[in-house]
Amino acid sequence: MKRISDITKTLLTAATVFAGSQLSTAGNGVEIEHLGTNNTLVRVTADGKYLILPVQESNDEATVNVLVDGKLDRTLNVRLAKSKVDYTVPFDIEKYKGKNVLLNVVTSQSRATVREAKEDACWGNFCVSDTFNTENREKYRPAFHHTPLYGWMNDPNGMFYKDGVWHLYYQWNPFGSKWQNMTWGHSSSTDLVNWTHHDAAIEPDGLGTVFSGSSAIDSENSAGFGKDAVVAMYTSAGASQIQSLAWSNDNGASFNIYAGNPVLTLESEARDPNMFWNQDTKEWILVLAHALDHEMLIFTSPDMKKWTLQSAFGKGLGAQDGVWECPDLFELPVAGSDEKKWVLLSNLNPGGPFGGSATQYFVGDFDGKTFTPDLDAEGKVPTKWLDYGKDHYATVSFSDAPGGRRTVIGWMSNWQYAPEVPTMQYRSANTLPRELGLFKNSDGQIYASSAPSPELEAVRGSVFKSVSKVNVDTKGRRYAIPDICEITMNIDPLKSDSVTLELANNAGEKVVLTYDPATSRLSFDRKESGIVDFSQDFPAITVAPTYNDGKTLSLRIFVDRSSIEVFEKDGRFVMTNIVFPNSPYSYMSVKANGGKARVSNLKIYNINAQ
Ligand code: FRU
Repeated sequence: MKRISDITKTLLTAATVFAGSQLSTAGNGVEIEHLGTNNTLVRVTADGKYLILPVQESNDEATVNVLVDGKLDRTLNVRLAKSKVDYTVPFDIEKYKGKNVLLNVVTSQSRATVREAKEDACWGNFCVSDTFNTENREKYRPAFHHTPLYGWMNDPNGMFYKDGVWHLYYQWNPFGSKWQNMTWGHSSSTDLVNWTHHDAAIEPDGLGTVFSGSSAIDSENSAGFGKDAVVAMYTSAGASQIQSLAWSNDNGASFNIYAGNPVLTLESEARDPNMFWNQDTKEWILVLAHALDHEMLIFTSPDMKKWTLQSAFGKGLGAQDGVWECPDLFELPVAGSDEKKWVLLSNLNPGGPFGGSATQYFVGDFDGKTFTPDLDAEGKVPTKWLDYGKDHYATVSFSDAPGGRRTVIGWMSNWQYAPEVPTMQYRSANTLPRELGLFKNSDGQIYASSAPSPELEAVRGSVFKSVSKVNVDTKGRRYAIPDICEITMNIDPLKSDSVTLELANNAGEKVVLTYDPATSRLSFDRKESGIVDFSQDFPAITVAPTYNDGKTLSLRIFVDRSSIEVFEKDGRFVMTNIVFPNSPYSYMSVKANGGKARVSNLKIYNINAQ
């Protein structure tokens, strides 16, 4: 089976078609027939691996019906180029070898004449090719975060760990860098940082496109797909949202669609099924987002095919402004005690603390059927956030992570502006992997911690700068930093009013972090961080509670080409924000306001990444 990583390899030797820049010989391997002002046939006349599709992002979507020997095989929605080609995307035609492949293209813009339609930039730029260049390194493409090889990505999906390999699926548009054609893309890793890209895992079918969901390993063969089959449950999104199964007998490399789909239907919008095996009750538990009703539905099943509704959680609780999406439910120990608690992740869009999408969570108990939330001192269900940045969404965990780990990854963007961020050949990255835990705070509440996964220590490179102890005043101190780095430091505010930490470049673009010991808060200001004008919602200040009673703050800060993740060292809070500086931040400064502060154990590490 061909893997996307093989595409890259082929290209190192024979690059003929460039994503985003150079274009192939016009009309190579295709015949074009215009049928009317909005209807054109593209006939494939040569053998090859890919039919290259020319895209212009600002154009409306064309409906591309792929006919194979006269039968409709699938329909793609592609922003085919009108006045210029921004980049190209490959459509795999190898599987149709020996058959007649005809694209029946219906464009949407009104045109006065066929002559006008003929002038579209796309027609001369379709071509058949054996190669597709994915070497592209746009300047904002992260060096140590997961990104798709090309095209649009949103939520992480169906993540699981098996036989030493972490599998990450994701909401993917293989035919453009804006949301459309939802497909499960697939990457895998042995260290959670370096990812190998594979072929699409689950593609749209007659029931709809493939929205978010989860995977579980069926070690008891309860579904009859085979012992240890990887079973994925996802939302088929057609005219309605219904839940479907697919299974893999080759450790998640390829999936078979269950012929009995859908396995769960409702009369209202519900999506993003998240299932796990409940060892205590010996049955499957499913949490499904009842999106517009702002609640999570909990079902049980003996075999993943027949589901019984047990309870609903959330109406009127927590943040309710947006739709509820992408749930997850799991048990975690509370640090420093024998207690265990259940955590229900409930992603929400919009309605996050700083606008747009965010991940809220509830701590409580789960008896196999019903989730009961803990109450605060006033007897209310508190609203809690897993990350205090703007760019952390659809966070869910890996199934079957080793050693009882609860490892999560989130989509590092925000629905407010994700389609507009200044990248082109790909759009969006995932957050660094994180380990969830629980801790009891001085207010008596139990909160989730989210700390960098231990694997991140392995990508630490040499120490670029180390300072064991230094006092800072209003003038402050300044240290050079590498383009991509990890910064660890303790900040003791002493008697100062606040401490300011800036990451900046020589053009004056900067991210400003301010620690206010009086309120135990850390703010992150990206209003002057670089390119910010693609959306009015992008320039913003985010604020995190530090849960440290204004004492010494221990930070781990990860700087990649277009993101900054600020963790309290044990993950008591985390703030994830994307940034687009015109040139990388080249120095960090620290200063105290209204008195002196002390910085200790400052270490700036290089990162071992390409
Ligand atoms: C969350 C979400 C999910 C849905 C998916 C579609 O970001 O809206 O609810 O399954 O994206 O791509």
